Amino acid sequence: MTKSKQTLIAWLRDAHAMERASVDTLDRMADRLGRFPELAAGFREHWRVSLAQVQRIEVCLKQIGSDTSTVKDLASRFIGIARAFAVEVTPDEPVKDCLADYSWRHFEIGAYLSLGAAAAVLEEPEVVRMCEEHVQQERAMADWLERQIREVTQDFLRP
Ligand SMILES: [Fe+2]
Repeated sequence: MTKSKQTLIAWLRDAHAMERASVDTLDRMADRLGRFPELAAGFREHWRVSLAQVQRIEVCLKQIGSDTSTVKDLASRFIGIARAFAVEVTPDEPVKDCLADYSWRHFEIGAYLSLGAAAAVLEEPEVVRMCEEHVQQERAMADWLERQIREVTQDFLRP
């Protein structure tokens, strides 16, 4: 296996860890958004999308010929980063959760743009397709959140 191919596999494994961190963080955020059911439902929906993304990355890893038995080991690294984005419990946490997740969506968009570019050079069309689809899903979530940020902030200020 070439060095470039090994790098692509390493980056796919990073993406897998990133999505697992996303699943973990979205789950916690959705759970504590009791006062904002619409927001909680949106986070819950993207939690499902992220779970499917985890599985799709596993399929790509297998197709490329990588062992997936150890991919879960990397998750803790990204869970740490994702939690740094997410805030501790504070009175304005719904607002902060929106901001944190909005940043995280853009982190993921960047990661998939990079991974997709690498896969194009290495002629891995299945990975390219996956990255394009994941970018669309992350952009859709970021766009939805963009509208939520205003509403949740104004709602939060209402007595
Ligand atoms: Fe994602």
